[in-house]
Amino acid sequence: MSTKTLVNINGKVVTPELATVSVFDRGFLYGDSVYEVTMTKNGIPFMMEAHLDRLESSASKIGLPLPFNRDEITNQVINTVKELGSTKCYVRIVCTRGEGEITLDPTADQVGNFILITKELPEYPRHWYEKGVWMVISDVVRNHQRSTDPSVKSGNYLNNVLAMGEAKRAGAFDAIMLNHQGMVSEGTTSNIWMVKDETFITPPLDAGLLGGITRQSLLDMGKNNGLKMLEENISPEQIKAADEVFLTSTTKEIVPIVKIDDQIIGNAQPGVNTRKLHVMYQELMENHYKSEKSRLNI
Ligand code: PDD
Repeated sequence: MSTKTLVNINGKVVTPELATVSVFDRGFLYGDSVYEVTMTKNGIPFMMEAHLDRLESSASKIGLPLPFNRDEITNQVINTVKELGSTKCYVRIVCTRGEGEITLDPTADQVGNFILITKELPEYPRHWYEKGVWMVISDVVRNHQRSTDPSVKSGNYLNNVLAMGEAKRAGAFDAIMLNHQGMVSEGTTSNIWMVKDETFITPPLDAGLLGGITRQSLLDMGKNNGLKMLEENISPEQIKAADEVFLTSTTKEIVPIVKIDDQIIGNAQPGVNTRKLHVMYQELMENHYKSEKSRLNI
């Protein structure tokens, strides 16, 4: 493993070589798990409360008991990244339904596993932000809400893995996934936005997507600052005819998209509205870290 990494398994911090769980774990066997990805800066977790809310919501929607409560999880994050000692850390929290007999029955006797992976978060390539990226629209359909609900951040990412594979084979950065009605849902690990006539538009939650924490922060921040923010269904034709397109996620923040399939977006450069939103968001992030530092007494 090239980057500095530590793993916390059920409260015990070990190096990656010693980080193992049973092959009978249901996360491994069936993707029967939930997870969250956040990051820390100078030891301060980013949007921890929102990530805990979503972790609890994901777990409750699939009836998976969480092995630790909110304060315990926050403390595990703070203590593990402290041990890693990097200024910026990636944090992945995975809770599985645990190990037991091989059976699909989720009510069978089993003990859940808590796994926290933290590693140094590298600076992403400048060109993503300065020149923008190319996405393809995937043939793989995002899960139907009555299948594994996309609002659950579960270990079932095979469709997204396949969509990402399609993008990589085409030489693209990533893929945009459509829902079963052929409308835009989201990226494989990000939410998708477009700007048309100075209005920011992202698909509504009922398009079948993960309620991204970055997505919600941007909707709130934009509205508080008088920007026009809409949650509306977007067709592939509409997104290709947008003035600007971008993706959002916790670790990547806001990445401009300048080409979709073989369609150039706008003037093939990151748009001014996208840049403006990113500057505002980075200020929000800094303010958030400051208030979390005092709230969590770090
Ligand atoms: N992914 N949609 C999907 C399917 C995601 O997996 C993610 C996050 C997002 C963006 O959510 P947020 O803004 O809360 O990060 C949207 C994380 C980063 C991951 O799996 O690495």
